[in-house]
Amino acid sequence: MATCNTLILMLLGVACAGAEKLKCQGEGRFPNPNLCGAYYDCTPNNAGGYDMVKDDCRGFAYNSGARHCSEKLCETRIKRSVTSDNHPYSRMCEGLSDGFLCANCKTVVVCVKGQAFIRHCIDNFFCSELAQFGGGVCYPDHPAECKCVSPNDFRVDPYDPQRFFSCRDVGSKPTQYRCPEGMVFDETARECSANDLPPCSTSGTFAKSSNCSEYYTCIAVKNGWLQKHYICGAGTAYNAVTGTCENPCVLLECQNEGRFADPSSKHNYFECYMLGGKLKQLRYTCPETYRWEVLSPGVGKCVEDHGKDLTVRPYGECTMPKDLC
Ligand SMILES: *[C@@H]1O[C@H](CO)[C@@H](O)[C@H](O)[C@H]1NC(C)=O
Repeated sequence: MATCNTLILMLLGVACAGAEKLKCQGEGRFPNPNLCGAYYDCTPNNAGGYDMVKDDCRGFAYNSGARHCSEKLCETRIKRSVTSDNHPYSRMCEGLSDGFLCANCKTVVVCVKGQAFIRHCIDNFFCSELAQFGGGVCYPDHPAECKCVSPNDFRVDPYDPQRFFSCRDVGSKPTQYRCPEGMVFDETARECSANDLPPCSTSGTFAKSSNCSEYYTCIAVKNGWLQKHYICGAGTAYNAVTGTCENPCVLLECQNEGRFADPSSKHNYFECYMLGGKLKQLRYTCPETYRWEVLSPGVGKCVEDHGKDLTVRPYGECTMPKDLC
């Protein structure tokens, strides 16, 4: 800062180097202008103000518009490694765009360039996925799915079915546990049980066929496969085309008049038409052994299905939960 004379600068070092005092003006995730790649989270506290938690993108620049850690390296921090603390959550970031995710109730994962680094949530903070933070954030007393809401309870982690937590009382501090590999926590039976996923045969991320709101990754390891089971956030389903959990209802609803492919089945199509000033939709199924082929937006026809339909349907490989849309 121009007003900082050399002596003070020498005495106070960093504190005097033009540092702008950070202040929470509201809830959200904000860039720290004093440091490349740094940002701070403002979450509400009991006193009617905000708590501030500072963090940084481990050498990458923070993109305040998109609210994620960008793939651009900060010049001054280029030497800092991002590979040291990425284990074991990097598989969550594979194939995903940069962003903040919840790995479980107590862990925020920051994905940059397909790699992960993590932040653990303290005390009464839990990982919540909130738009004003661009995704996962340690947030006080939220979401309810991570909290103790009844005494002597065992609850499955809403982000990771392999994990669960026990509750002594309403509002008490949850104790976290994890089932052995390949098992998920069954809330009703109050025990870990084998998951019902199909065995892995290729690397990748796949929707669970019986429920579009669940998906799993398969990673080849020395002596077989490492399989990890994930649950999409409330109201979302795993979109196989984008590789993220999304609100499927927008895809299943008419946006324009015309005939459109059904994202959940290659055999179906939607007819969308105006009636009384509103878009109505009807779902049709092509004759047996036929599938819907898109010719141009809003136009298509049923053609014989030779099993060569290469267009991947976002939800074509799994069954959409009934109450979702
Ligand atoms: C599908 O999975 C979601 C997330 O685990 C769950 O809330 C929902 O009940 C499941 N639906 C069915 C039909 O199993």
